[in-house]
Amino acid sequence: MHNLASLIRAVPDFPTPGIVFRDITPLLADAAEFARCIALLAEPWREARVQAVCAIESRGFIFGAALATTLGAGFVPLRKPGKLPPPVVAVDYELEYARDRLEARNDALRKGERVLVADDVLATGGTLCAARTLVERLGATVVGASVLIELAALPGRARWGNASPLHALLSY
Ligand code: PRP
Ligand code: ADE
Repeated sequence: MHNLASLIRAVPDFPTPGIVFRDITPLLADAAEFARCIALLAEPWREARVQAVCAIESRGFIFGAALATTLGAGFVPLRKPGKLPPPVVAVDYELEYARDRLEARNDALRKGERVLVADDVLATGGTLCAARTLVERLGATVVGASVLIELAALPGRARWGNASPLHALLSY
C-alpha cells in the first residue's frame, strides 16, 4: 500500500446499505499526491506503445485523461447512454449496485489501435469487461487495464482474466 491510501475515504453504507464506498475526492484535491498517483498508474505501461486510453464515465475520465497525456496517447471517452451523438456502439453491463450501459462513437478507434482501458475502481468487473467488449467491437486491441483501486473481495480481477494485464495501484 502507498500512503495514497490515506487520502481515500471509506464511507460505510453508501450509496446503499452494505456497500463501503471508496471516496477518491480527498486524493484528487491533493496536488502532489494526485500527480504522484498518475505517474504511478502510468509506470507499468510506459513501454506498452499505448495509442489510446479508453476511460469510463465519469470517475474513470479523471484518471484516463491524465494517463493519456502522460503516456502520449489519445483519449476516448466511453460514455453512459444518450450522451454521445449517433452512430454509437453500446454494451450493457451490471454494477455492484445497479445496471448500466456504455457507449462509444462507432468510429472512435482504428482497427488494431493499441488501447489501455482505465477506471477508478474495479468492483464486480462488469464495467471494465463491458469497456473491453466495446473496444474490441470497435476493432481495436486491448493491451491491458489500469485502475486506481481494486476491491479484492469481489470477482473483478477473475472476471477480467488473463488475456491482458490488469494493474491496480491499491487493493482493499
Ligand atoms: C463505479 C466506478 C466504476 C464502476 C466499478 O462507477 O467508477 O466505473 O462503478 O464497478 P464494477 O466493477 O462493479 O462494474 P459508477 O457507475 O458508480 O459511476 P461514476 O463513475 O459516474 O460515479
Ligand atoms: N464502484 C463500485 N463499487 C464501488 C465502491 N465500493 N466504492 C467506490 N466506487 C465503486
